Amino acid sequence: MKKQLYVNGEWKTANKFADLHSPYTKELIAEIPQASREEVQEAIDAAYFANAKMAALTAFERASILEQLAQLLIENRTKAASIISLEAAKPLKYALNEIDRTIETYKFAAEEAKRLTGEMIPMDAARNGAGRFGYTIEQPLGVIGAITPFNFPQNLVAHKVGPAIASGNTIVLKPASQTPLSALFLAELIDQTALPKGAFTVVTGSGKIVGDALVESSKIKMITFTGSPSVGIGIREKAGLKKVALELGSNAGLIIDRNVDLNDIVPKCVMGAFSNQGQVCISLQRAYVVDELFDEFIDKFSALTKELIIGDPLEQNTDISAMIHPNEQERALNWVQEAVQNGAEIVTGGQIENGVFMPTILTNVASNLKVSCQEVFAPIVIVNRIASIEEGILAINDSNFGLQAGIFTKDIQTAFTASKQLEVGGVIINDIPTYRVDQMPYGGVKQSGTGKEGLKYAIHEMTETKLVVWNQQ
Ligand code: SIN
Repeated sequence: MKKQLYVNGEWKTANKFADLHSPYTKELIAEIPQASREEVQEAIDAAYFANAKMAALTAFERASILEQLAQLLIENRTKAASIISLEAAKPLKYALNEIDRTIETYKFAAEEAKRLTGEMIPMDAARNGAGRFGYTIEQPLGVIGAITPFNFPQNLVAHKVGPAIASGNTIVLKPASQTPLSALFLAELIDQTALPKGAFTVVTGSGKIVGDALVESSKIKMITFTGSPSVGIGIREKAGLKKVALELGSNAGLIIDRNVDLNDIVPKCVMGAFSNQGQVCISLQRAYVVDELFDEFIDKFSALTKELIIGDPLEQNTDISAMIHPNEQERALNWVQEAVQNGAEIVTGGQIENGVFMPTILTNVASNLKVSCQEVFAPIVIVNRIASIEEGILAINDSNFGLQAGIFTKDIQTAFTASKQLEVGGVIINDIPTYRVDQMPYGGVKQSGTGKEGLKYAIHEMTETKLVVWNQQ
């Protein structure tokens, strides 16, 4: 019940603890160490000391460690998924899917470790380059500070731990306060691999103490953060010359053109809007449907939404459970009420039942309302009617965010136009904006952040390009 910090390859008892409750049953599930500034410093020092050992590992050794980790997750798939369901109320089927993705993420990291190369520089292409031979090498930065969110407590951690190990860095992880158990379970698995002691540390506790200590430490060379824009912007302001990668969420939009098959599209939209209770940075939040298909879409979408099974996240059939905290459910309710007071209509949902925020569809929503223009991070989707694709593109771009957008269309020219004009990090043609596989570049524009994840791209962020020039005399 009482958990420990994982520092320098050892389990360490902290002085202070905080209770961790299940978001669904509200029962006490663990007591979580609240690291002090000194304990965080100890973790950073251990990681700093381990840098030399990590940098000395061969690509083969780094890849082998990641393969070992993937194998341990395969063996512990159900346990790892149940921990996620318990602490985050993610329905078990989605938690299992997350573990499958996590295994793939570590496997991709292992593969990337083996192809991390620099490039040859054609020195003699310059007037003054004759007789020189130049190339670059990609060197690890050193200690990476990772601050991770509750919504994918294994896979979004893997997106930071995997590339850090692949590129020979050490890493100090501060998991979200609501999902420390997954990170501590990961530490148990990593402890069984050949990773050098100190190269991976988990420090649990408050953002104010642990997060600030990481961001302010001169021994940490990069902060990689996934979470809210306000926290991300605060990190960037405090980080000085450290590298900072920020993945900050969005209000992802989708356009549905005429002549498409709604029977195919609607189940994807239900999944995109409501999986993990909408607590996904690329959750489908705004759907813009052409006039001809609008009524049919609303009928089919609401019918399928009403079939979702609501309840205990640990039950195999559950589709929707509690959001991460009652305060978040209250916030979501207030946002829906604000929308309704300003002319929006509720198609389904819009209330909390038995402690669960019901999947909610709203129509006729003005673009300045919170459910439209802010990141809702709740099982709420707005569906508005559009007269043209141009109107849909303008509506999606009318946002402070820009992570991913989707468009369903049969018209190739429309798809090309959308891919050029949508102001986002990724355009998904003929699928929902929620679509992601783990090796693709992932990251946003505007307030959705800076830097890219996806193993190869994250490794690039976590390395320094060093130039070597030989003079052949
Ligand atoms: C996120 O919420 O940013 C991650 C989404 C995903 O990996 O599917």
